[in-house]
Amino acid sequence: MSCFLQCSLVLSFMYSGVLAAPSLFGGHAARASSSSCRCFPGDSCWPSNTEWSEFNTTLGGKLIATVPIGSVCHHDPFAAYDAEACSSLQAAWFNEDTHYGSSSSVMAPFFANQSCDPFLPDTSRCVIGTYIQYAVNASDATDYQKALEFGQLHNIRLVIRNTGHDYLGKSTGAGALGIWTHYMKNIDFLDYTSPNYAGKAIKLGAGVQGHEAYAAAKAEGLVVVGGNCPTVGIAGGYSQGGGTGPLGSRFGMAADQVLEWEVVTASGELLIATPSNNSDLYWALSGGGGGVYGVVVSMTSKAHADMPSSAANLTFTNNGVSQDAFWGAVSVFHETLPAIVDAGGVSVWGFTNASFSMTPTYGPNITASQMSNLLQPVIQKLNANNISFTYAVKSYSDFLSSYDDPTMNPFIATSAIQLGGRIIPRSLVESNNSALTSAFQKITALGGGFSGIAMSVGGSPANDNAVNPEWRTALFDAVIYTLFDYTSWEANLVSQDLITDVLIPELATLTPGGGSYLNEADFRTVDWKDAFYGSNYDALKSVKDKYDPEGVFYALTGVGSDAWVEEADGRLCKTS
Ligand SMILES: Cc1cc2nc3c(=O)[nH]c(=O)nc-3n(C[C@H](O)[C@H](O)[C@H](O)COP(=O)(O)OP(=O)(O)OC[C@H]3O[C@@H](n4cnc5c(N)ncnc54)[C@H](O)[C@@H]3O)c2cc1C
Ligand SMILES: *[C@@H]1O[C@H](CO)[C@@H](O)[C@H](O)[C@H]1NC(C)=O
Ligand SMILES: *[C@@H]1O[C@H](CO)[C@@H](O)[C@H](O)[C@H]1NC(C)=O
Ligand SMILES: *[C@@H]1O[C@H](CO)[C@@H](O)[C@H](O)[C@H]1NC(C)=O
Ligand SMILES: *[C@@H]1O[C@H](CO)[C@@H](O)[C@H](O)[C@H]1NC(C)=O
Ligand SMILES: *[C@@H]1O[C@H](CO)[C@@H](O)[C@H](O)[C@H]1NC(C)=O
Ligand SMILES: *[C@@H]1O[C@H](CO)[C@@H](O)[C@H](O)[C@H]1NC(C)=O
Ligand SMILES: *[C@@H]1O[C@H](CO)[C@@H](O)[C@H](O)[C@H]1NC(C)=O
Ligand SMILES: *[C@@H]1O[C@H](CO)[C@@H](O)[C@H](O)[C@H]1NC(C)=O
Ligand SMILES: *[C@@H]1O[C@H](CO)[C@@H](O)[C@H](O)[C@H]1NC(C)=O
Repeated sequence: MSCFLQCSLVLSFMYSGVLAAPSLFGGHAARASSSSCRCFPGDSCWPSNTEWSEFNTTLGGKLIATVPIGSVCHHDPFAAYDAEACSSLQAAWFNEDTHYGSSSSVMAPFFANQSCDPFLPDTSRCVIGTYIQYAVNASDATDYQKALEFGQLHNIRLVIRNTGHDYLGKSTGAGALGIWTHYMKNIDFLDYTSPNYAGKAIKLGAGVQGHEAYAAAKAEGLVVVGGNCPTVGIAGGYSQGGGTGPLGSRFGMAADQVLEWEVVTASGELLIATPSNNSDLYWALSGGGGGVYGVVVSMTSKAHADMPSSAANLTFTNNGVSQDAFWGAVSVFHETLPAIVDAGGVSVWGFTNASFSMTPTYGPNITASQMSNLLQPVIQKLNANNISFTYAVKSYSDFLSSYDDPTMNPFIATSAIQLGGRIIPRSLVESNNSALTSAFQKITALGGGFSGIAMSVGGSPANDNAVNPEWRTALFDAVIYTLFDYTSWEANLVSQDLITDVLIPELATLTPGGGSYLNEADFRTVDWKDAFYGSNYDALKSVKDKYDPEGVFYALTGVGSDAWVEEADGRLCKTS
């Protein structure tokens, strides 16, 4: 399930505190352009071709006009239909690189609003629509500053876009100019000294992806905290939103590793934010959500010594066994998680009501025999109930070899699901696991799939940060998904309603006052301020107001986003 969950998406709409009409992008009538709205393509305020061209010149030719990647599957207005290119695109659609290599595509299919959809007839709608209009293919802070200046001069919506992994549609936007960070790939290693840390550090450009950081670290005998999906952008929304992954129980969340952010604010100022310098901005960027406070140029994080590792996989189904026996085994697996995370392990697993798959449990600095002991209660339960299973435990000389083993961490398709999520406290599993199992039975019987990652990220990090406090007492993150239907929008609306109104509430009821991981949550979460940010919301809003008083940066469900609403055509307008 690793990349399924940790690498897929959803589409969306408009959500501004109260769910608007059934229309995905909200039920407001389109408003005429006014100063309370961002300038939109077609408005008289929209820059002329000459102005865009001059802007391109100031950027040294780094401006890209969006041509949706799916346009090869459609006639007009971009190019002629190309059958061969279209079938190649269809074959590659569920690979992450199809989207992160593009300056405009998004992995969450919901947010493409079916425009230039490669699985729809060639005559179907192909417009820029919810994709960004232009991208600045940024190389450095100067490019950010030029984009910010041009965007503000012309009152254009700005979007920060890295890999396009975001499930909540935060890396796209109708009528927007994108700052695209993908090619900012610098990686440096430092000996870092600060009041709270002395040791190895890794400095990562905004566009570095998880597997690039892992590989560079390994070459230095080091490891860094990154995602379970190799292509997520490590210095982007991932670490800025918290960051879960295979080393979480050893070292904490990705945000907990950060020593320093280099960031350009809305006014164009280049700041260094550390626990002692612009410390409020440091605090907010470390867990308070991507795309909202400024544009990160680089992130400097702790790097740790590499270590021998182990990994284990396990699968079983309900074939020939009662549902009670099947759920009994799932339930025992969940009871086993506290010991696994306490030992420094991280489990990644998924299930429906018919099959279970652990892919895998990571054991950084855990031997294969310790790993076998940790999983013994589950194996015993399976044997006792005559449930057949496949199971393997392996040891590796270093962390990355375990992560790169496709029999443990298999490739899974992206762009295939819609999701919601809930952080599951350890206390719930320890005090009332049967109620949790019942909830999972109901959720899966209604068609929801489960994908989880279990970690223990400790009491509080060395440097205080804005990670959702729910993580500190969590056992795992539960993601509930339904499959995206590329041919029926109506079906997707029905399943998103199911997630919002029925499936996630099953878990919310068991976790009153709890929360959801802002990077893997339902974009329509009604109480998103509490659920995503908890007690940090008000302080985060103050940081937002201080560094971005004009609201230059907007991201759906981001801090301060309720000051804006998307109209039916996607135009962004102030709510009051
Ligand atoms: C297949 C898949 C697997 C995943 N696996 C994991 C996982 O193992 N663990 C985990 O914690 N999460 C995982 N995620 C969720 C992931 O953390 C989020 O999708 C995250 O938003 C990705 O960040 P990004 O920068 O790569 O993506 P983008 O979609 O490009 O950006 C995400 C957000 O961050 C903002 N942003 C990006 N770069 C910058 C910047 N330089 N400065 C300021 N804001 C910026 C964007 O504006 C946007 O709001 C997974 C997602 C997918 C689709
Ligand atoms: C910007 O300039 C480059 C180089 O001249 C060109 O290739 C590119 O198409 C231009 N972009 C736009 C949007 O015109
Ligand atoms: C973006 O810039 C990089 C260099 O930083 C270049 O290699 C790449 O081809 C550019 N991409 C596009 C689509 O222009
Ligand atoms: C503190 O930040 C300012 C600007 O934000 C920067 O010039 C200075 O070098 C930083 N100092 C440290 C110690 O990081
Ligand atoms: C790994 O285990 C060794 C020996 O048990 C110990 O010395 C080391 O501190 C551990 N490293 C981590 C990161 O847990
Ligand atoms: C498992 O199978 C054994 C022998 O085949 C049988 O004796 C036992 O009752 C079965 N146990 C369960 C729980 O079905
Ligand atoms: C589990 O790992 C083993 C050892 O690498 C492998 O042979 C097996 O195919 C894996 N199981 C699954 C279901 O992928
Ligand atoms: C477990 O949860 C269920 C459902 O919320 C509740 O009815 C029950 O009282 C709880 N049991 C315990 C021991 O807390
Ligand atoms: C399993 O889930 C499916 C929906 O995914 C449902 O139709 C079926 O009834 C469920 N089976 C049981 C035994 O709950
Ligand atoms: C989404 O597509 C519909 C047409 O199917 C269109 O009416 C609507 O305006 C689009 N929404 C946005 C935000 O582009």
